[in-house]
Amino acid sequence: MKRSILIHPDPRLKKVCVPVADVSDDLRILADDMLETMYDAPGIGLAAPQIGILQRIIAMDCVKEDGVAGRPLVMFNPQIVAASEETNVYEEGCLSIPEQYAEVTRPKVVEVEWMDRDGKAQSETFDGLWATCVQHEIDHLNGKLFIDHLKPLKRQMITRKMQKLKRERARG
Ligand code: NI
Repeated sequence: MKRSILIHPDPRLKKVCVPVADVSDDLRILADDMLETMYDAPGIGLAAPQIGILQRIIAMDCVKEDGVAGRPLVMFNPQIVAASEETNVYEEGCLSIPEQYAEVTRPKVVEVEWMDRDGKAQSETFDGLWATCVQHEIDHLNGKLFIDHLKPLKRQMITRKMQKLKRERARG
């Protein structure tokens, strides 16, 4: 089932999310909903707080090439356990901040540990877009948005645009 995505500013996007104790059937359904919502948007990543669920769950699929099978990935309690000194700059966007993009500098390579949908411990080293995406999504679980990496003036400018967008949407 597709869920609706919260738009910044929203207090739920600023919360530190709680860890998942174990992966229940309900959480597996939630994970499927997150993937469906992400693909429909369309986006390459979605964190549970973006649909108002304050638990440490993210969904990603950074395969963008046409004709290549996707790689839907859901992570429960993801944790960055190592990060490279070398950095990468990507123009980031966010489904909670529609149509706003800005360059963010992050470690180029990160090693991530998480629990998969069967409750099994997993670990993998990510590079390139995947590395940026997983860091962006884990930030969400700590109440942090990509605009929090920008200079205050730029952040305020984007936030004002989002407030205007929300007012327009509320009016219909
Ligand atoms: Ni985001």
